[in-house]
Amino acid sequence: MARSKAMQLAGDPAALARYLFRKHIYRRLYVPLNNALREALAKPEAAVDATFGAIRARTRRRSDISDHLPLLYRETIARRPKLMVELGTRGGESTLVLLTAAKALDAPMVSVDIDDVGATVKQKEPDLTARWRFVQADDVGFAAQFPAWCAQHGLPDAIDLLFIDTSHLYQHTVEEIAAWFPRLAPSATVMFHDTAMGEYYRRADGTIGRGWDNDRGVIRAIEEALGVRIDEFSPFRGTARGWIVEHHPLCNGFTVLRRDAA
Ligand SMILES: C[S@@+](CC[C@H](N)C(=O)[O-])C[C@H]1O[C@@H](n2cnc3c(N)ncnc32)[C@H](O)[C@@H]1O
Repeated sequence: MARSKAMQLAGDPAALARYLFRKHIYRRLYVPLNNALREALAKPEAAVDATFGAIRARTRRRSDISDHLPLLYRETIARRPKLMVELGTRGGESTLVLLTAAKALDAPMVSVDIDDVGATVKQKEPDLTARWRFVQADDVGFAAQFPAWCAQHGLPDAIDLLFIDTSHLYQHTVEEIAAWFPRLAPSATVMFHDTAMGEYYRRADGTIGRGWDNDRGVIRAIEEALGVRIDEFSPFRGTARGWIVEHHPLCNGFTVLRRDAA
């Protein structure tokens, strides 16, 4: 049958070449190569699925930050940081998401909390926390020692991914921005939680949680640092002082600042 097909095409060398290519090269070489490639890709893809599954599972816990965990993860992966710093760890909701990204990127991460919460978080996910450094300190005080501390621990001292989620108070946030922004790399992403606080907060799925009114503490400090005005209960996108600013009002508010060196 194949022979007769080849004979039929004998008068059309281009068609014959195409036929022979498909029959011998495509089927015998490309198909097995394609199958090998599909198999090779399946394992890393399954790992990515598992990661998204784990982050979605955290989102379903409906905490005070749960709506923002996928964004926290995506922004971190997009930045491809060489050094990640988190200010404010508590039970580790954000920490474990950031550490999931740190593992995927093989990036070091440092968390700072005034309370001794490191051991509790480590117990939750020993695999993820292997590369993590937890520092129990007041974050503003620690910022002054940070370059020397990084040198001691063999870390780069420029931060390209900073997440701030601590007291939510105005004066403290002003001090955090003053202390930590000079430690940022020229291209960096900074994320703040609790930029839209009130007695109650609403999540994207319509559920609500109990909050507290911080008198616009975090968002006001950001507004002053960037010279912008943001209605914290509405979505906002804009640029200010070299930063792209993106604000999400639900679930206590989440504000992302991104800048890229020219
Ligand atoms: C809202 S919780 C952090 C929640 C955490 N990011 C999460 O997603 O689970 C705030 C944390 O900030 C810490 N904190 C408050 N003031 C601080 C300060 N001056 N320096 C460092 N950590 C501070 C508190 O101890 C607390 O654990």
